[in-house]
Amino acid sequence: MRPVLTVLVSFVLAAWMVLPVYASEDDIEYRQNVYKALGGHTSASAAIIQNEVSQPDHLLVHARNIAQIADLLPDLFPEGSGDGDTDALAGIWEQPDAFGERLSAFQEAAAGFYEAAGAGNRGATAQAFMSMAQTCRGCHDDFRD
Ligand code: HEC
Repeated sequence: MRPVLTVLVSFVLAAWMVLPVYASEDDIEYRQNVYKALGGHTSASAAIIQNEVSQPDHLLVHARNIAQIADLLPDLFPEGSGDGDTDALAGIWEQPDAFGERLSAFQEAAAGFYEAAGAGNRGATAQAFMSMAQTCRGCHDDFRD
């Protein structure tokens, strides 16, 4: 019984220690799922701002989700998650300062959009949304394939 348990424990321990190395495909998939969620809230916001749908009251929820997801983005790029089935470019890890600037520009713009949506002025909200969308594009131009 004892040796079996020892083997089991060392196996679990070894797996736990080794796992982060092999987790990069999962990290990539997780990152892409978070970005899909961000894309969903952004497209939904655009539809509301352009008056295409009949749920204008939903805008604040989308804006809040975007602002909260913005805070998660810095965690989405662990070392090693650039190798595999990903559109993330190596520059993310090679030029962390430039990437960090793109990240904070987006976070600021997302917070601005959330604030404008909360204040309820339609013109200012549309403006803040456009500014934010430009920060999405800015990062994609430099750091996404
Ligand atoms: C700081 C950089 C950065 C910002 C800001 C950013 N993105 Fe991205 N985005 C990326 C990178 C890098 C990928 C590629 C992820 C991958 O393939 O691993 C990506 C992927 C995506 C994807 C594809 C997900 C998939 O695989 O299906 C969508 C959709 C997306 N982003 C939407 C947005 C939207 C909308 C915004 C703004 C509201 C935004 N992104 C802001 C860097 C950024």
